[in-house]
Amino acid sequence: MKLFDVYPLFDITPVRGEGVYLYDDKGEQYMDLYGGHAVISIGHSHPHYVSLLGEQLRQIGFYSNSVKIPQQQELADRLGALSGYDDYSLFLCNSGAEANENALKLASFQNGRKKVIAFEGSFHGRTSLAVAATHDPSIQAAINENSNIIFLPWNDEDDLIAAMSTEISAVIIEGIQGVGGVHVPSVSFLKLLRELCDQHGASLILDEIQSGYGRSGHFFAHQHADIRADIVTMAKGMGNGFPIGGVLIGPGYKARHGLLGTTFGGNYLACAAAIAVLDVMKEESLIANAAGVGAYLIDQIKALQGVKQVRGMGLMIGIELDGPCAPLRRKLLEEHHIFTGTSSNKNTLRVLPPLTMTKNQADIFLDALSSCLKLTPVNI
Ligand SMILES: Cc1ncc(COP(=O)(O)O)c(C=O)c1O
Repeated sequence: MKLFDVYPLFDITPVRGEGVYLYDDKGEQYMDLYGGHAVISIGHSHPHYVSLLGEQLRQIGFYSNSVKIPQQQELADRLGALSGYDDYSLFLCNSGAEANENALKLASFQNGRKKVIAFEGSFHGRTSLAVAATHDPSIQAAINENSNIIFLPWNDEDDLIAAMSTEISAVIIEGIQGVGGVHVPSVSFLKLLRELCDQHGASLILDEIQSGYGRSGHFFAHQHADIRADIVTMAKGMGNGFPIGGVLIGPGYKARHGLLGTTFGGNYLACAAAIAVLDVMKEESLIANAAGVGAYLIDQIKALQGVKQVRGMGLMIGIELDGPCAPLRRKLLEEHHIFTGTSSNKNTLRVLPPLTMTKNQADIFLDALSSCLKLTPVNI
């Protein structure tokens, strides 16, 4: 049987990972500054992560949500303490799209409304509601078309004020827009969103699937604006590669048996992975590290010849060039063995290293980037 061919692939076969590095089947080393779409938070195969997952697997790997799984509460307690959302409840699922799907559904269960505001450039996943709220018609099938989603321009306060009404069930916004090319919502935009959602009885859903879990230098990126969401979604960095997603749900939302559900969500292995991630984040002060190394990188990249704009916070960085970034990305990979990412804006290179990245590793990247930018005309 062949694989359904939906992914363009690099001709590279990683067989081992350690920290910020990957090793392929030929023994070549690569610096991973993309983490397989922002998934690697504490570094590849961190010893504590390997040990907790191994121990858990030797005990029990899976049972469904019909029995007590104490690891779920342990994860919720640690997540509440580190994120500052300890008065919220946690629903565990398996991916980012599933987290957003549940968040949008929950908002609608709560207020009985259907309309959702999302933003131009957004990416919220590929399942039905999540893809309908994603601003990319090329990945929406006819069956996904949904007249309930209203797309508004990013950071535009007047359009937001005009569109808000008591018909709106939820506003969904990324903590930092990732796939769209690393765009940070302004503090005043986030504060206005909070205010308008309160005023109109709509749920404010912060999609922190890419920007959360310490990547921005805050636990959640929206916390830089000092606001609280009604619902927060997360995945990616949460399990450092083990599939897990989560929804943080504000105290005003009432649970009832059967309201949400999943077979695999919150299984023992996923919880062990997520607990290990939080242990390491705390033990190694990775949020502060992401803030420090990220600020250094952003400053240094801004000074490089050939860079038009640098956007982002912490270790979520978008480097915009005057032309497509694909040749630069190829050069970084082929000549310097450095993985980076693209975005839906073809001119923006996305840099999403593990939160463990050191200043020395940042300097290795900066040297490679600077030499590639000198040698690569951006408009080829
Ligand atoms: C902001 C955001 N939301 C949702 C998703 C969907 O996550 P998943 O691929 O785990 O379904 C992504 C994936 O890139 C994302 O970046």
